[in-house]
Amino acid sequence: MTASVSGAVAASSSGTLGDHAAGQLRRLGEIAGLPGADSKVYARTLVDVLGPVARRPLDLPPASDSFLSDDHTPVEFSLSFQPGGAPTLRVLLEPGSGAASLAENGRTGLRVLRDLAARWGFGIGRLDELEDLFFPPDPEGPLALWCALELRPGGVPRVKAYLNPAANGPKQAAKTVRKALKRLGHRHAFRSLPEGDRFLFFALDLGDWDEPRVKVYLAHQDLPVTEAGGLSRMADGPEPAEIEAFLRTATGLDIAPDDGLGSPLARRPLQTCHAFTDTTATLPGGFTLYVPVRDHAPHDGEVLARGTALLRRHGIDPAPLQHALAAVTPRRLEDGLGLVAYLGLAHQQGRPPRIMTYISSEAYEVRPPAAPLPAEAPAETAAAGL
Ligand code: TRP
Repeated sequence: MTASVSGAVAASSSGTLGDHAAGQLRRLGEIAGLPGADSKVYARTLVDVLGPVARRPLDLPPASDSFLSDDHTPVEFSLSFQPGGAPTLRVLLEPGSGAASLAENGRTGLRVLRDLAARWGFGIGRLDELEDLFFPPDPEGPLALWCALELRPGGVPRVKAYLNPAANGPKQAAKTVRKALKRLGHRHAFRSLPEGDRFLFFALDLGDWDEPRVKVYLAHQDLPVTEAGGLSRMADGPEPAEIEAFLRTATGLDIAPDDGLGSPLARRPLQTCHAFTDTTATLPGGFTLYVPVRDHAPHDGEVLARGTALLRRHGIDPAPLQHALAAVTPRRLEDGLGLVAYLGLAHQQGRPPRIMTYISSEAYEVRPPAAPLPAEAPAETAAAGL
């Protein structure tokens, strides 16, 4: 590893982005219990979806400054855990990474999704219905289209598309989301959302889902910890105390109200996702909380400890998480921060709660561990906000 100007450390310098991420996928596939043949198909699919940037040598900088991950790798893995089984592996990708413009990025994304739909024989009618709302000729914002693949056994993934509510400018984001929900028949959905200060993503399940969801993601900047428990709008949703306890453990607030990492106000916001399936329902059928754990921990060793505690609390074997981190990087966890980007808690009606861990590819950079403030720095209180 070599130090770069910014103090961050270059993660790897040989091979291509495609080789790097495909290798990670195959190793994670093993941990998720995927047959080797399926992992191979999925690794090839990852390379196909990335297109030309997959062939880019890793000693060149990222092809574009993708918002998908902190070091701009257009790939992020996640493991979704539930009691009594291996975790499910998913991968989030930016198909238009490296495009000359955001408009071109979006066109590439749509073309790639259409190719996947043709290959696996699923319809993307709902995406077509929304094209004019999310793909204006001159889009704005941090993304145009991302797609996620849920890598289940059998070699045919479930697919999700992530669109940008602010494509017509941040001021239009609420209106864009309202129109999109209505067009898809979710007439009551918009009204049921909690207050947030930004619409981040609008997502669609595509392909072979039992109950395809439409999902709205909100950011909650500077939210007092005590209010996070009230963000779910699900009918039979989680108790506020469960959400708050998850948040306190994920951020380390339950062990140290002042984590020594500076003001929580300056950090990335908490995020929530509200999922809709039944168009006649007045409330969402799913709720997820995402905690940007990398802004609340000194290093990844501590993040693993928190993830382990949360998994145990939910009756889930934490061993696969530890193995997964070792499968994506040979570095010591104490030597970096950000390998786990988010910890999430998901509730979906009729299913046991799931714990999600978002795992960075770190193809380009490893963020150094945080330097804690001197102990005499003034203490932040738990209620100060996140
Ligand atoms: N990198 C972006 C962020 O950190 C978007 C993102 C990637 C994200 N994976 C995520 C957001 C998982 C929430 C959960 O905000």
